Amino acid sequence: MSDDSRPSPAEARTESRTAARTAARTAARTAVVIPAAGRGVRLGPGAPKALRALNGTPMLIHAVRAMAASRAVSLVVVVAPPDGAAEVKSLLDAHALPERTDFLVVPGGESRQESVKLGLDALPPDFDIVLVHDAARPLVPVDTVDAVIEAVREGAPAVVPALPLADTVKEVAAAAEPGAPEPVVATPERARLRAVQTPQGFDRATLIRAHETVTDDVTDDASMVEQLGLTVVVVPGHEEAFKVTRPLDLVLAEAVLARRRLNDGF
Ligand code: CTP
Ligand code: MG
Repeated sequence: MSDDSRPSPAEARTESRTAARTAARTAARTAVVIPAAGRGVRLGPGAPKALRALNGTPMLIHAVRAMAASRAVSLVVVVAPPDGAAEVKSLLDAHALPERTDFLVVPGGESRQESVKLGLDALPPDFDIVLVHDAARPLVPVDTVDAVIEAVREGAPAVVPALPLADTVKEVAAAAEPGAPEPVVATPERARLRAVQTPQGFDRATLIRAHETVTDDVTDDASMVEQLGLTVVVVPGHEEAFKVTRPLDLVLAEAVLARRRLNDGF
């Protein structure tokens, strides 16, 4: 070997950094916390939302399968309705799920934030990446899950999948009296807005710190990381990652499943 072929000290440093990063990536294990403890008030009367069926299979099972479809995911922690942990355990036992994925079930809390925290408390130590995924988004494609995980592996402390908005958004103030129209106070520029979905991905230590530090009510986990002063990044979301919230969303979800079944047949 000639002297020229030996790496320079700078090259050697780069190589060992790359090797270290590759090793860290392979070692980074990914778990998903699925908050599924909500009632689903906006969906109307019936079973807790996550246990409602979509084409005969509970929404939660669709959501768990969507997460377990990613080869990177080795543990799914389901946060069940407070009085429904036993029922959720038997549901998971009764449905076929990939062998490589482990499952844990814990009872949830009063708010989504509390439910996520209870899921995080149950996480075993050897996971460095944590995704938080709404049971109410049962149809998210695996490519979206993998894109979120990849961005965390690349070093982002928090990652959200999101889409541009179709509707223009207005900020309003309280109506002068109950029932009166609400005055518009601002119209944020639509092109700069994104509608955020799940799974949201995190460096585990960052997410735990966020949940320990932020006590305000929030509607997503990434906003807690923003409150720590860290940068949250966006990757492309997917229209099939929509949240089942109101009755019409059930119709859409079943139509998506029917379309998938047709496409799978060809
Ligand atoms: N969630 C939870 N614990 C709560 C409230 C919500 O785990 N105490 C979960 C829901 O099960 C859902 C996700 O958080 O998977 C997103 O919440 P949302 O869509 O608002 O569901 P619900 O709170 O059940 O619905 P609603 O607000 O209409 O009652
Ligand atoms: Mg809710």
